Amino acid sequence: MKITIAGTGYVGLVTGVCLADVGHTITCFDIDERKIQELNGGKSPIYEPGLEDLITKNLEAKRLHFTSEPEQAYADADCIFIAVGTPENEDGSANLSYVEQAAIMISEYIHKDTVIVVKSTVPVGTNERIARIIKERVDPSINIEVASNPEFLREGSAIHDTFNGDRIVIGTESQETAQLLRSIYEPLNIPIVTTDIRSAEMIKYASNAFLATKISFINEIANLCEKTGANIEEVAEGMGYDKRIGNQFLRAGIGYGGSCFPKDTKALNYLAKQYDFDFRILESVINVNKYQKDKLFLKAKELFQDFTGKKVTVLGLAFKPNTDDIREAPSIDIIESLLKENAQITVFDPIAMGNVEELFHDKINYANSALEAIQEADMVFIVTEWREIKELTLAQYKESMAQPVIFDGRNCYPLHEAKELGIQYYSIGRKPVE
Ligand SMILES: NC(=O)c1ccc[n+]([C@@H]2O[C@H](COP(=O)([O-])OP(=O)(O)OC[C@H]3O[C@@H](n4cnc5c(N)ncnc54)[C@H](O)[C@@H]3O)[C@@H](O)[C@H]2O)c1
Repeated sequence: MKITIAGTGYVGLVTGVCLADVGHTITCFDIDERKIQELNGGKSPIYEPGLEDLITKNLEAKRLHFTSEPEQAYADADCIFIAVGTPENEDGSANLSYVEQAAIMISEYIHKDTVIVVKSTVPVGTNERIARIIKERVDPSINIEVASNPEFLREGSAIHDTFNGDRIVIGTESQETAQLLRSIYEPLNIPIVTTDIRSAEMIKYASNAFLATKISFINEIANLCEKTGANIEEVAEGMGYDKRIGNQFLRAGIGYGGSCFPKDTKALNYLAKQYDFDFRILESVINVNKYQKDKLFLKAKELFQDFTGKKVTVLGLAFKPNTDDIREAPSIDIIESLLKENAQITVFDPIAMGNVEELFHDKINYANSALEAIQEADMVFIVTEWREIKELTLAQYKESMAQPVIFDGRNCYPLHEAKELGIQYYSIGRKPVE
């Protein structure tokens, strides 16, 4: 069976590489020729632990191919996965133009029965739209089946997640298509849930909205802890032992970011509005997150008032550790707020610095290490809990900074240590050390 993946981003590339690794013949197609060139040279355009090794291994085994030629990608494919981006439109809805363009391009090249699998996260009803787009354009004698197969991998552990996912969701109205997709995924040995197409589309949004709710919920408990004198770390630990609650996604912080939760919560809310449904919980989840992202900056503003000429360090730029993705990262909001206040900003991230440099150029300074970044700083914001950042000791902050004031959005250090060292330390859901 010939499988093609359209879009070699975080999802398409990882899916393609992992399916090749379990023995399938995979062609990965992208309209970005530079990416394809890099990939053919064995270089990954994105950072994902273990990815480059798997690319090289499967290129050498000739199971994996990269191309920017649509004919080569689509003409002979039995099954085409669409894994292009579905970013946010200004009104919060999902931008489906990339998915639609991919569908139009596919329809120009296929000339035999083909299964089209939509892996991109798309609102309920989109698979039907994609089916219409393709069927309207191809010869009526060609049978086109469309299936929804949403993706649940997490950046930073995408390969592990693909090989060890909790479930695979297949939404289709056709037994045959379900069987074909089962056979593709069989080597992964992961439970498969088969549903109708609309339910599969909804499962993805409902799952992300639920996880975002858990994050906003614990962040609100953290905010209440700050007012009442309770400690969020202890509260979350005590809650997490309850199996009905579970201990994951109970880490209070400075809000969720990344390429999925922010846009998917908004897209689901938009969808609800289209159906005249007032999704009150989701609306609150989104608003809580907006506040949470500004929280550390607002605290600093309350303390310092004027940032002009202040040396401010931002540690951690990616939206979470082990990825270079800075989409909707809280660090970006903090840097933008600080720039408006004329602060002198120095940043450090082990992997995501290049992406941030493309945004801010020479408006901010880029350090080579966390330790270098905090030298002579008037205040430090800890935004992403990379190992390289957590390894800095509070004593090093004390020695290196002009004045030791830390705003820690990830609760990296024990309060008593900050107190013993005389560091002004503001974290999330815990008493300030002043
Ligand atoms: N990133 C994640 O962690 C994650 C997890 C689960 C689901 N998803 C969903 O998967 C989808 C893809 O996300 P991503 O983060 O991998 O996106 P991405 O932005 O990293 O990659 C998208 C890729 O598609 C390519 N592309 C655009 N138009 C194309 C076309 N017509 N034909 C072929 N390639 C084209 C782009 O050049 C790019 O390389 C989105 O819907 C997203 O919501 C993402």
